[in-house]
Amino acid sequence: MKIKWIMVICTLLCVGVLAKAQIIHIETERISLVYGVNDEKLQQVHFGNHLSSVDGVEHLSTKFDEIYPSFGNGSSNEVALIATHADGSMATDLIYQNHQQSIDDNIQTTTILLKDEKKAFFVELNFKAYQAEDVIEQWVVIHHKEKKAVRLEQFASSTIGFKAESYYLTHFYGSWAKEMQMTEEKLCNGIKLIETKRGVRSTEYENPSFVLALDQKASDANGEVAMGALAWSGNFRFSFQVDDKENCQLVAGINPYASAYWLSPKEEFVTPRMILTYSNTGKNQASINLHRWARKYNLQDGDEERPIVLNSWEGAYFKFDADKLKSMMDGAAEMGVEVFVLDDGWFGNKYPRNSDKSGLGDWQVNKKKLPKGIGDLIDYAEGKGLQFGIWVEPEMVNPKSELAEQHPEWIIQRLNDREEILERSQLLLDLSNPEVQDFVFGVVDNVLTENPRIVYVKWDANRHIQNFGSTYLDADKQSHLWIDYTKGLEKVLAKLNEKYPDIIFQACASGGGRVDYGALNYTHEFWASDDTDPFERLFIQWGTNHIYPAIATGAHITKSPNHQTNRATPLKFRCDMAMGGRLGLELSPDNLDEKDIDYVKRVLETYKANRSIIQFGDLFRLNSPYDKDGYAAISYITPEKDEAVVMAYCHEFHRRDERALIKLQGLDEDAVYHISELNGNRKVNQVNEIGKEISGALLMNRGLFINMKKPYESVVIKLEKVR
Ligand code: DGJ
Repeated sequence: MKIKWIMVICTLLCVGVLAKAQIIHIETERISLVYGVNDEKLQQVHFGNHLSSVDGVEHLSTKFDEIYPSFGNGSSNEVALIATHADGSMATDLIYQNHQQSIDDNIQTTTILLKDEKKAFFVELNFKAYQAEDVIEQWVVIHHKEKKAVRLEQFASSTIGFKAESYYLTHFYGSWAKEMQMTEEKLCNGIKLIETKRGVRSTEYENPSFVLALDQKASDANGEVAMGALAWSGNFRFSFQVDDKENCQLVAGINPYASAYWLSPKEEFVTPRMILTYSNTGKNQASINLHRWARKYNLQDGDEERPIVLNSWEGAYFKFDADKLKSMMDGAAEMGVEVFVLDDGWFGNKYPRNSDKSGLGDWQVNKKKLPKGIGDLIDYAEGKGLQFGIWVEPEMVNPKSELAEQHPEWIIQRLNDREEILERSQLLLDLSNPEVQDFVFGVVDNVLTENPRIVYVKWDANRHIQNFGSTYLDADKQSHLWIDYTKGLEKVLAKLNEKYPDIIFQACASGGGRVDYGALNYTHEFWASDDTDPFERLFIQWGTNHIYPAIATGAHITKSPNHQTNRATPLKFRCDMAMGGRLGLELSPDNLDEKDIDYVKRVLETYKANRSIIQFGDLFRLNSPYDKDGYAAISYITPEKDEAVVMAYCHEFHRRDERALIKLQGLDEDAVYHISELNGNRKVNQVNEIGKEISGALLMNRGLFINMKKPYESVVIKLEKVR
């Protein structure tokens, strides 16, 4: 009996009553995130489908999750915040104070102020809800007016509760040359952590993004899914906790791993943005939401077409002189390339950068290799109708360099004379130090001032933080390094964007080590992977484009056999794979014979004629390379649904009478489309319907049969609305 009464009291306390006046409705056209104030605590009522009305919410009797739960207030779940106040107290009780909402054109802005019950310690929750794109961005600002500094030990960007019978989590893991591999698992009771602890180049191992499907495995075309990404290039952590009542709570933000942060009364701690979307028609729509949002609000110049580049790395590596580069430019110009990008190896004199062992940090043109300097190369490029781009890796240094000799204190190090761990024979510069920030800015600034006609900068980063320690940070603030490094990098990039608004920046970090919306806020694109084998790219680009748009995905045509995997593939397959992203080349044109040059020339013309569809269109994933049928297919469709490019790939052997059936999606079903082939190089069409006019309804419901039997055959089809 006694036990029963205790249970009733407990339920009453937990249920509480939501006051209608304190309902906060964060909404887009199709998504609602609803909070209520219950017993002075901010709680989540709903996240998912848009609610046209919240009338009667005060009668709901479910127990809701506290938003931004803090340590020491009774919860034994994961928390968003842990703060140790100057008197040693670790308890924080966040009480709702007030909120403001406004709407300006496409963006609804919400700010909710919470305050600790006892101390002048504040947490401000900020939201931007993008109406048409159905994306909600959240970040948190922590500040206080206590007498002494507060030590923050956990500082999430966002906490979201989900309610379903079961949860399926998709995340993207990898390693060098194998980034963005997709895996899905059913969440069991307990906590699943997705995180990185590498500080730099962190997305090579685990991407700060996820797809959470509710009640069933994620499908592209059906079901409820939430999709999210953290805009942060440093350590991150997503914890998904499923409790005994089948609630799932996500706490997402900077990884608090060894990152305690002192916050003085004058400072603000601003978390990175968590980007969230939701769809009740499968994950494809969620990807479209993120892509549309990213092009409009996150990428640099997301509404401008990207040029076709030829990057010199796989064509020349460190072995070049001016003549070699000029002959590469001749071929590039002949094929229709728009920007020639000079990769690693152009600098260093006392310690020439002729391999990855020396010279990194010494950003003076190598006089032996390029006696007439970069200007001479730019003149030559421009004479050929090409623009010019250049590679830098300004955050790093080889011990064998003049920079390391002059500024050993700028290097991130383990302190106390411990031996440093080298990776790719290099060390990291300490970007928490403003002097180093100035130096890193100066590296790029000097190159661009000396060569004002450069239009493209490839920014590389080839190691992560293993030696932990800063000669700049105070002894009690060493744990700031993870966060201050990334914030230092952001500062430098922001300053460069401001000074050079027309430069295209590519984020590269040994390939796909900086594929995140943090870096992408200051850059135009990323190099998706050093693995340029088109078969491997099927999977890498498939995973990448769940979260990040094609316009940002550097995808290059390379030599066969491939340098990383030694796999031989037909030129057409290599070209068709690069068509799926921001197409470019990564070879020396003299690797190709005359016939190949002619073919690539045609492909580049075709890409130029269709790039607005690929770079600005909506992506529809039609057939997954992970499916067992050995085919993959995607399409890009203009928002008006009047033009589409469909790309289909075969990656396994099929018997004679087998054909791929590709059912299209996203077309106008009442429209009729003319069908043509792009990049074709066969006498016989692989698709019978080429040259015909077929309705959107048929293309989507009956589909097209594509004749592809051998591994590495591919077909690109163009659809044009005729009526
Ligand atoms: C790693 C990059 O991913 C490559 O594309 C190339 O730029 C090399 N670094 C150069 O060292």
